[in-house]
Amino acid sequence: MSSHATPIPMSSRKTGPLKGTAAVPGDKSISHRALIFGAMAVGETKITGLLEGEDVLDTAKAMQALGADVVREGAGEWTVHGVGVGGFTEPEDIIDCGNSGTGVRLIMGCVACYDFCTTFTGDGSLRKRPMARVTDPLALFGTRSVGRSGGRLPLTLVGAADPVPVEYETPVPSAQVKSAVLLAGLNAPGKTVVIEKEATRDHTERMLTGFGAEVVTEKTPEGYNKITLTGRPELTPQEVAVPRDPSSAAFPVCAALIVEGSDIFVPGVSQNLTRNGLYTTLVEMGAEIAFENEREEGGEPVADLRVKYSKLKGIEVPPERAASMIDEYPILSVVAAYAEGTTVMRGVKELRVKESDRIDAMARGLEACGVTIEEDEDTLIVHGQGPDGVKGGATCATHIDHRIAMSFLVLGMASKEPVTVDDGSPIATSFPVFEKLMTDLGAYVTRNN
Ligand code: S3P
Repeated sequence: MSSHATPIPMSSRKTGPLKGTAAVPGDKSISHRALIFGAMAVGETKITGLLEGEDVLDTAKAMQALGADVVREGAGEWTVHGVGVGGFTEPEDIIDCGNSGTGVRLIMGCVACYDFCTTFTGDGSLRKRPMARVTDPLALFGTRSVGRSGGRLPLTLVGAADPVPVEYETPVPSAQVKSAVLLAGLNAPGKTVVIEKEATRDHTERMLTGFGAEVVTEKTPEGYNKITLTGRPELTPQEVAVPRDPSSAAFPVCAALIVEGSDIFVPGVSQNLTRNGLYTTLVEMGAEIAFENEREEGGEPVADLRVKYSKLKGIEVPPERAASMIDEYPILSVVAAYAEGTTVMRGVKELRVKESDRIDAMARGLEACGVTIEEDEDTLIVHGQGPDGVKGGATCATHIDHRIAMSFLVLGMASKEPVTVDDGSPIATSFPVFEKLMTDLGAYVTRNN
């Protein structure tokens, strides 16, 4: 959806306790990858539990444009007839990745080592985001690119006709960058190596191994992750059961923690250590969360969560935890507003280049809702107002950012006065059933037009 949809103002206000089951949709990261790896396998991959959010649907269209056959069989059930590594064909038109940084960066990796040309664009948010972090390492394979100033979209990649394998140390902790390099390495000869100083989500490595590629992760003497991929494998189609998205689960979980009397059940939340930093942090803040029935689902460790309204205290979040909860800082800053004491979030400058500048978006909205904050380039500090102390009563700007929209709607579920967001339409990128799911739990959240 490159031209952004008509804004949908939405509001929330204080309600009774949240009760019931919050079964959130499929994981966004894994959904993108299931479609992409399915498209690169030879034969039919079956996917269940796919997130049918706009971001993932845009990736499905992109895989079709590259020659794979992608079919929706039913709710969350998709089949992908892959063309094999080396089998993509030049897309006839521009690839529009809508709002999705993951989509565009992973697909850039997919086409980097093909002797053809691909042009990418996206919505007003994605067109502002930095792409040099991906085109720089892709250039090492021999891929050329030309984009707008700062390497921004629209951008054209001319794939490497004769790619060479690459060893690359990622300068920022980013699973998108790591994955783009590994995906490019699939269609390059020899071994492609990525070194990351801080562990980021490892879905690409896990899933590629599941599809039959040789991917080895080792620790360097300095304690960094060194990931080695052997190029030009034959990927075998898989049955992928996409687990639920812990980043979406964060919204009902955090709402239950701040809405008095709440007690909810959230099944199948990932316990993958590269994704569960928020849950560790919430427990440290005093959250009453029980982790039940720990098991494996779709190749990921998961647990069912029982979450109760809790008395929370502010904490200092260890900066080394940032990568494992990078998408959860906006909703954590809302929870922090309802805690007693100060919550310090350092080492979070990556938030400035997400769907919006999330430090700025949260800081401005929290201030408008009567919460005292401090910020610098790499830090957000929230001074808790206590469980009954958040005023609310503001209209918060969401900047085409789903997580900012959902965060402020959750804030409004416990504040003294209702909260409005100027545009809730981006919620459909990752959590299309947010409004219904929250309403079914007993929240008051509504569209204003
Ligand atoms: C993602 C990686 C993260 C995250 C994004 C999904 C992925 O981005 O913020 O929502 O699926 O690889 P970065 O890798 O840029 O930190």
